[in-house]
Amino acid sequence: MNQINKDYQRLPGSYLFAEVKRRQAAYEAANPDKDVIRLGVGDVTLPLAPAVIEALHKAVDEQANADTFKGYAPDHGYDFLREAIQKNEFAARGADISVDEIVISDGAKSDSSNIQEIFGPDIKIAVGDPVYPVYVDSNIMAGRGGDYNEETGKWSDLVYLSATAENDFKPSLPTEHVDLVYLCYPNNPTGTTLNTADLQEWVDWANANDAILIFDSAYESFITEDDVPHSIFELPGARTCAIEIRSFSKRAGFTGLRLGATIIPKEVEIDGVSLLDMWKRRISTKFNGAPYIVQRAGEATYTEEGKAQLEENIAYYRRNATLIREGLEEAGFEVFGGINAPYVWMKTPNGMDSWDFFDYLLETVQIVGTPGVGFGPSGAGYFRLTAFNTYEKTAEAIERIKGLKAQNA
Ligand SMILES: Cc1ncc(COP(=O)(O)O)c(C=O)c1O
Repeated sequence: MNQINKDYQRLPGSYLFAEVKRRQAAYEAANPDKDVIRLGVGDVTLPLAPAVIEALHKAVDEQANADTFKGYAPDHGYDFLREAIQKNEFAARGADISVDEIVISDGAKSDSSNIQEIFGPDIKIAVGDPVYPVYVDSNIMAGRGGDYNEETGKWSDLVYLSATAENDFKPSLPTEHVDLVYLCYPNNPTGTTLNTADLQEWVDWANANDAILIFDSAYESFITEDDVPHSIFELPGARTCAIEIRSFSKRAGFTGLRLGATIIPKEVEIDGVSLLDMWKRRISTKFNGAPYIVQRAGEATYTEEGKAQLEENIAYYRRNATLIREGLEEAGFEVFGGINAPYVWMKTPNGMDSWDFFDYLLETVQIVGTPGVGFGPSGAGYFRLTAFNTYEKTAEAIERIKGLKAQNA
């Protein structure tokens, strides 16, 4: 008899952003005259940089000519892109990473959900709480969750590393045995980050405890403070315990183009087996490479012109983040993040439930954010706003929220 993968059925409810979109669509359908401002889903809004567009056009033209046509890309990415990443993201920051340790992909969501496949079924996994839901759900689908407790919002076999205002959003090191830890800094959803000393503690702990760190640095281009590492490989000891996942989505606006990379140093091993070799093996079997034209577009983000254009776009979003953070603070809310990340994390007023606050903001001032509890139990009583709308819409949203606060004062 045929069978489905029952672990898929164990996932509770719908995916967070699907539920946000569903509630928003229902509200808009019932209130077609209302102007809803979206500060919810973390998708970019600015068009691609001119240097990227130029590279795309050029690569498309190459596809029209038999002499320059490209079919399947090399399994692990074109060297021109891997070299540009190695030089700009690692060598330039003093991180010792070689080109053959960089594996190109179609984005950080695929890599961060697929990486668990190269680990055994019974390993112990720790995640930040709140967390980017993909790390948890991909492990549930692989049967590693145990039982879900609706009351606590936790899976029995996962270790939750709570990050709240009480510990300054810096989760404590695990006190029980853990094999794999997902770290995301700058963090989605809290917009907070770890400084070099904090991250060094994780690296030292992982080396001392035979654990591996998956470091998702999708938001590194938003870092403004000097003492915040852009890559975990800037830190001594990381080459023996860390895997880093990179994305072009937020850095270069490639959410629609799709491009990312996973970096695994040769020294990262379990029982003498190289995880880099295993990951390459997986990629060769299950992926046929990111498109040539997209990899050329990725390369263009590292030209001097490209870098300057990207920086302008990031500065635009940063200005929005500052506007949100300062506006909400002025209105008397407790606010976190938004300095090294495009996310601002706020406490809901009077301890209001996160989904109730979502509905309240949507219905009273037509603003869509993301309920903190959707990212894990420690997100209860928090709410996330993103900097990815236009400056004008962001300013309008903050004025509306300020008005709301004044009304209730
Ligand atoms: C922490 C984190 N990792 C990865 C991703 C997905 O990145 P990509 O678009 O490269 O798949 C996101 C997207 O929001 C994210 O927040």
